[in-house]
Amino acid sequence: MADGAVPRTPVVAGNWKMHATLAEARTLAAAVRDGCRGLTEIRIAVCPAFTALAAVAEVLAGSPILVGAQDAHWEAAGAFTGSVSPSQVWDAGARLVILGHSERRHGLGESDEMVRRKVTAALAHGLTPLVCVGETADERAAGQTLAVVTRQLEAALGERPAVEAGRGWLAYEPVWAIGTGQTATPAQAAEVHAQLRTVLARLTGPAVAAACPILYGGSVKPEVTSALLAEPDIDGALVGGASLKAADFIGIVRAGIEAKGRARPPAERL
Ligand code: PGA
Repeated sequence: MADGAVPRTPVVAGNWKMHATLAEARTLAAAVRDGCRGLTEIRIAVCPAFTALAAVAEVLAGSPILVGAQDAHWEAAGAFTGSVSPSQVWDAGARLVILGHSERRHGLGESDEMVRRKVTAALAHGLTPLVCVGETADERAAGQTLAVVTRQLEAALGERPAVEAGRGWLAYEPVWAIGTGQTATPAQAAEVHAQLRTVLARLTGPAVAAACPILYGGSVKPEVTSALLAEPDIDGALVGGASLKAADFIGIVRAGIEAKGRARPPAERL
């Protein structure tokens, strides 16, 4: 980290995907809340399904843990059967929203343009967009990784004024690592994180880029967290499968705090 730079607060976010009944979501949220009590040196977020947002927000009321949605439409309201708007997820208690997750890009045909519109709408509604980018195995094999994530980042944030773009968070999630047990190596992830920060600096200026949390996601487990988050440009983790077990998620949070404590020179400790 450059001299005088403000250290970024690490972030660990759980993406619960299409899991958990209301009762299960409440139990998991309460376990995360209780297990993370007092851990103020890190930001923690959980992203349940739409149906559980309000219930989880109620359980987490008064705790510093953020509630996030897993998507939100670009329109504020209207005839969009099956979709949920940014104002609706805000109303349900979400302050963060995952956008451009690869399961939506590749599984549901979400384009760069759709992600751009969603990011714009989320920012306009006061939500923090957590923009996901990442290459497929074929794209990596073809040497296109950095080009793909650059294109996705430019499309998502490139047209926003720096002050707005600076409210976004990023996640690098290689598609081949999601749900496969095949975590990217710290070196593979660090290379992409450095590229994302360079592109962000070009789009928004160095100060915004230096402050932006860039998370890694893709088969994050407690035992791989330390090595990944020891990389200075890896500011946290977006956790899928392991976020459904409170003990694993709390283990990742604790390993993240440890790694960042070790990774920083003493003068920059929080
Ligand atoms: P995973 O999912 O941790 O289960 O690989 C990560 C994600 O999709 O955000």
